[in-house]
Amino acid sequence: MRQQALTRRQQGAQAHRQPVLVDCLTLWLSNLMHVGADLDQATDELLQALDDSASPVVFVSNEVGLGLVPETPLGRRFRDEAGRLAKLDGFQGLTEDRLAALLVGRWRSGAPFNRVPLGDNEDLGKNPLANNNFLFDSDSPKLSLMNGQTDPYDMAKADPVGITCPWGAHIRKVNVRDSGSDIGGRVATYSKRLLRVGVPFGQSLEDHYGEGRDPQNGDRGLLFLSIQSSIENQFEFLQARWMNDPSRPKMPGGNDMIVGQNAAAEGGVRRCTIFGSGLQQEQVSAPNQWVIPTGGGYFFVPSITALREVIAR
Ligand code: HEM
Repeated sequence: MRQQALTRRQQGAQAHRQPVLVDCLTLWLSNLMHVGADLDQATDELLQALDDSASPVVFVSNEVGLGLVPETPLGRRFRDEAGRLAKLDGFQGLTEDRLAALLVGRWRSGAPFNRVPLGDNEDLGKNPLANNNFLFDSDSPKLSLMNGQTDPYDMAKADPVGITCPWGAHIRKVNVRDSGSDIGGRVATYSKRLLRVGVPFGQSLEDHYGEGRDPQNGDRGLLFLSIQSSIENQFEFLQARWMNDPSRPKMPGGNDMIVGQNAAAEGGVRRCTIFGSGLQQEQVSAPNQWVIPTGGGYFFVPSITALREVIAR
């Protein structure tokens, strides 16, 4: 409807070779959404109309970050931060999803950022062998996977400085893989690895505009479970020394942007460094705490009873 009106106006202007002012794209979008139109098709038609137009066309649109407003203060700040960065030289095209992937080190699907830095790849994310088949410091070699499976995706390129996957990204903070670190070379850093599983609970906030969301009060989080030979040298070490120390395991790093604690950060604000396409460095800051630890327990495996009653006999 609106699209046809646009095309008619363009055709009219074309005849007179006058510039066309479209004011504004946000209104056009909300009208389309109001009637449940196919947005992809409408956008294609708009781009086609632009290609066909001999007149200069000027679009007015709301500024990035001033459009749809997320419900939570944290969401709004994150959206603003992505918008601010996207305007800086070398950071164009930095969407909320991309910034989130940089801070985790994986895309939403689980695909490792440094294997597919240009965008998410759901097949890679779903493949439990391929999505763990990558190094950080050196070019990742092509390996054959277990059970004769192949890994057809692009391999990760060496990224020792954290230009592709920042050192502040959660998965790089807690598992430096082949990189050396502040405690030494690979042998020393391998001893910090742990076996872990994260069990998410509660309603996901994935759908930004879904009905019935309760972002402020929802009972949601992650039950974190890990097995290691030393709680102190692994689990506690990772949190105290790597997640919450901006200069470790390596610079230019920052605090862990997902799990890091603000109370442990300088001035109560977590920060990490990310790089733009021309190697520009920018700091992302998080004045709010994202993850609030609520409790936990340490357990000895096998249990003392099993040791006494079964193993010792
Ligand atoms: C609520 C708190 C946490 C959240 C939301 C969180 C989130 C995540 C996410 C999204 C991933 C990537 C997906 C995956 O590999 O499954 C991940 C991986 C990981 N996390 Fe966490 N995490 C949390 C707490 C922790 C803690 C406390 C530790 C260790 C002390 C930790 C250590 C790890 C490790 C070792 C990995 C695997 C990294 C790799 O892929 O090499 N996480 N976490």
